[in-house]
Amino acid sequence: MAAPPDASSTMRAWQMASPGHVPSQLRLRTDVRRPQAKDLGRTDILSIVPYLVHDSSSSSSSNGGGGVPAQGGDVAGGGGGGGDVGGEAAAANTTTVFINSGSGGTGTYMIQIAKLLGCHVTVSCSTAKAPLCRSLGADAIIDYKTSDVVAELARRGRHVFDLVIDNVGYSPANLYAECTRARVMKPAAVFVVVTGNPLAIVSWLRPAFLGGGTNKMVMYLTRARRPDLDQLTRWLDDGKLRSVVDRTFAFEDAREAFAYLMQGSAAGKVVVRVAADLE
Ligand SMILES: NC(=O)c1ccc[n+]([C@@H]2O[C@H](COP(=O)([O-])OP(=O)(O)OC[C@H]3O[C@@H](n4cnc5c(N)ncnc54)[C@H](OP(=O)(O)O)[C@@H]3O)[C@@H](O)[C@H]2O)c1
Repeated sequence: MAAPPDASSTMRAWQMASPGHVPSQLRLRTDVRRPQAKDLGRTDILSIVPYLVHDSSSSSSSNGGGGVPAQGGDVAGGGGGGGDVGGEAAAANTTTVFINSGSGGTGTYMIQIAKLLGCHVTVSCSTAKAPLCRSLGADAIIDYKTSDVVAELARRGRHVFDLVIDNVGYSPANLYAECTRARVMKPAAVFVVVTGNPLAIVSWLRPAFLGGGTNKMVMYLTRARRPDLDQLTRWLDDGKLRSVVDRTFAFEDAREAFAYLMQGSAAGKVVVRVAADLE
């Protein structure tokens, strides 16, 4: 009979049994070998992670703090939200940003970071999440539940936006093509794809004389770069940036955390507490 694993050399870990639907494939193992300093490569870092913050494509560590009320308060009307970008911001030569979905795990940070960088920020979100986006600093809100997002962008004028960031990918069905048609982006504006949409990529690759767009498209992929992490840490320490936490799950409930996240309606981040004793 095999000897029981040495508690100090093993740890619990969620592992994917095989690729596919994350909540169905996750398995909790209790006998995973604990990584040792000698296993590390020259640029690897061994750290203790008190929390994991999930998104559908990646996981990262977080201080897990500073949640704000996710919902409630007044409800934005279609296309309202004040702070119209067409006039004042354009005149002041401010960088104008549209974030498609400001209320999720990515959008709640994007709003705050764009504001810290001095941008004028327009976001789309549902009626219920408008107060959250406003509380994070959004200047203008488009309620995608009650209005046509691209029509609302177009209402702000032609060639208004310097940067469009798509966190949704499917709604509007092809944001890149629709923004191109409505001429809401400045000629030098950049369209950032956070969630891939093959339709948008086809529109981008198509020549302009066949209806393709001329605005640059950037496929965003999260990378942990030291200067960025240092800047984020400074903003968090100074209280200028806060983590919006929708729900925190126990380590044993990581599968439920993923299932909840995949419903696509989280307000901010979904967190898994990895080591309660490190709080
Ligand atoms: N490229 C990368 O490196 C990278 C990194 C992180 C994440 N991602 C991807 O980026 C996407 C967004 O991630 P996330 O963590 O922000 O997702 P999330 O936390 O699940 O965000 C969902 C949020 O979007 C709102 N929403 C849903 N449909 C919307 C619509 N049509 N318009 C506006 N808002 C809408 C939801 O609220 P309501 O239901 O109330 O509307 C919810 O607040 C995911 O597909 C993720 O995989 C990519």
